[in-house]
Amino acid sequence: MVMLMIFPIRLRLSKSGRGETVKYGIIGVGMMGREHLINLHHLRCQGVVVVCIADPHIPSQQLALELAQSFDWPLKVFSGHQELLDSGLCDVVVVSSPNMTHYQILMDVLNHPKSHHVLVEKPLCTTVSDCRKVANAARRRPDMLVQVGLEYRYMPPVAKLIEIVKGGTLGQVKMVAIREHRFPFLVKVNNWNRFNANTGGTLVEKCCHFFDLMRLFAGANPVRVMASGAIDVNHKDEIYDGKVPDIIDNAYVIIEFDNGARGMLDLCMFAEGSKNEQEISVVGHTGKGEAFVPESIVRFGSRTDGRNGVQTLKAEDRRIKYEGLHHGSSYLEHLNLLSAIRENGAKAPPVNLDDGLISVAMGVAAQLSIEKGRFVSIEEVLDEHNC
Ligand SMILES: NC(=O)c1ccc[n+]([C@@H]2O[C@H](COP(=O)([O-])OP(=O)(O)OC[C@H]3O[C@@H](n4cnc5c(N)ncnc54)[C@H](O)[C@@H]3O)[C@@H](O)[C@H]2O)c1
Repeated sequence: MVMLMIFPIRLRLSKSGRGETVKYGIIGVGMMGREHLINLHHLRCQGVVVVCIADPHIPSQQLALELAQSFDWPLKVFSGHQELLDSGLCDVVVVSSPNMTHYQILMDVLNHPKSHHVLVEKPLCTTVSDCRKVANAARRRPDMLVQVGLEYRYMPPVAKLIEIVKGGTLGQVKMVAIREHRFPFLVKVNNWNRFNANTGGTLVEKCCHFFDLMRLFAGANPVRVMASGAIDVNHKDEIYDGKVPDIIDNAYVIIEFDNGARGMLDLCMFAEGSKNEQEISVVGHTGKGEAFVPESIVRFGSRTDGRNGVQTLKAEDRRIKYEGLHHGSSYLEHLNLLSAIRENGAKAPPVNLDDGLISVAMGVAAQLSIEKGRFVSIEEVLDEHNC
């Protein structure tokens, strides 16, 4: 029997208390790393500064340098993360390199004699066993905070719906349906995102966000997963080093949770003709709530008041100083990590390694379900022997 572990965090932090400058280093300054750079610049009034970057790709380094120059931030540039860590220049590292590099980079950060707090982009790693090794290594470093970049929680309409659900307005949650209908995967540096071996598979790479949200809405952990999906439209005419991409572009995934709630993901990555990119519906035994991104609208109503009683809200968060590529959620995730750092360990990072691991496990189970054509239990993918 494999149990879902909640990692106990006992923190012993030593620096970066209130008022001190917090120095950041960014590992991987492609699209997302530069997005972090801009977000951190919008936190400069809170004592944040980016002092170094690591990236082996010269054009990415150049673009990051140009940005930093426009912010008047002199940057030390490294080609690898180990040199960045050894430099001792920063207090926090943002890991925004490709998915398949997260494991080794995180292990090197967690085993480094100097303490660095960490924000690691999703997915935590591409396999459950790597996530588990990282989580174990992190438990040996109570001097470090590690936050996982499951930032969809912070998008204002999603955060508002979470608040409504947690406030009990909808009663006991029974069904969570998340539809993501969007454009295909973007082109990435060296096309790393075209292959499952690099990303963990579409249902890990991108859908860990939605599995994380389902857990939050359901207030429960997953038990088993059934999925159907394929690569039907995108990337079919692309070839890299003689290989055609193998990442699926559409899927339906059903998840059963340990409190009896059910989740369903409807993913389509050739749906540019869509008003919203994400549509979330949460139904409890007394009411229903919905969130729409990017319209930023939340609706909720009760069974007793019916259709005429449905309320519609425009969700916004006035703390957001930079909307960026993800509707302000990257800004808010940095704000949250910064506040945990400033609290000197009194506060744990809001999205922890347990969240990172389980969201990957759900994606891995969904990928395996497609491959095997059957339900896959979470126990099966969490089992060390299968990882
Ligand atoms: N939060 C979100 O919604 C979101 C959105 C997009 C991407 N991401 C995640 O961010 C990460 C980066 O994605 P991206 O879109 O920026 O990709 P990208 O290809 O645009 O950039 C990746 C960068 O990392 C560099 N790199 C490669 N190996 C490296 C290594 N060992 N050390 C340091 N740098 C290395 C590459 O040269 C490149 O510049 C991925 O994990 C991805 O899943 C998250």
